[in-house]
Amino acid sequence: MDFVSEINALRKEKNAIILGHYYQIPEIQDIADYIGDSLALARRAVETKADIIVFAGVHFMAETAKILNPGRKVLLPDLEAGCSLADACDADELAKMKKEFPDHKVISYVNCSAKVKALSDVICTSGNALKIVESFPKDEKILFVPDRNLGAYINRKTGRDMKLWPGSCQIHDVLNAEKVLKLKLSKPEAKVIAHPECNPAVLEIADFVGSTAAMLNFIVKDSSREYIVATETGILHQMRKLTPQKKFFVATNDETCLCNDCPYMKLNTMEKLYRCLKDETPEIILDKELMDRARKPIETMLRLS
Ligand code: 13P
Repeated sequence: MDFVSEINALRKEKNAIILGHYYQIPEIQDIADYIGDSLALARRAVETKADIIVFAGVHFMAETAKILNPGRKVLLPDLEAGCSLADACDADELAKMKKEFPDHKVISYVNCSAKVKALSDVICTSGNALKIVESFPKDEKILFVPDRNLGAYINRKTGRDMKLWPGSCQIHDVLNAEKVLKLKLSKPEAKVIAHPECNPAVLEIADFVGSTAAMLNFIVKDSSREYIVATETGILHQMRKLTPQKKFFVATNDETCLCNDCPYMKLNTMEKLYRCLKDETPEIILDKELMDRARKPIETMLRLS
């Protein structure tokens, strides 16, 4: 089957928009109406007039789009496309922690469930975390949920001492600084660019730290010709498209393979995208009252950033 033509016909017929994250497989990135980092995709979800949003990403991203668009149908090609960070923070555990530290504001990274969002004062993404944290007074007590690496990075950048939830991304957390340094020895011209979900040792040796969109902006503007990329490998597709003359090397992880592929992001395929547009399932369904509570901290984030 020619999935490209079928998907094109279906999205036109159904007035559907396909939002795709940079970690999706290249074919999905190429067919998406819009690709971006999680902040840009959330913004796009607010602006769209489409009747159906197909979210080619992971569950928390589609959930965020649904919370911002309760009246629209939001589809996710594979409902199993989860996130190790979102799984690391259970809403009941967070509710307990809030009781223990009632004087703390809760800033939650967008990679979390709708229930966790509903318990938060404000949401942030890797693209705006610094700005969101800095919008609070210096002496504000903050609990940062669920990514301890991003939280620790913001603590170092701002000199704050936010309490950190002990969660991490299963792909970024295992990138290995020593192996990256070894790789750099063999590619002395290459700059290390890293996502803030990486562990502190990798971030320490990085020449640039930023969200997926920020990394793409960086390589376009920067004068180097070679980069060691410390994030999920899906992003290499855009990097090569935007700067075909440059060379990219994958940062090495603790395992023996060189595949920093998120198993959840890579669950989405062209066939599943086609089927979900055709059958309008799997759909993201959320309780109205939960959506109302989770929307507030997301809207606060959009206003602040
Ligand atoms: P970005 O916000 O940089 O797109 O990152 C999303 C993500 O899930 C990283 O693992």
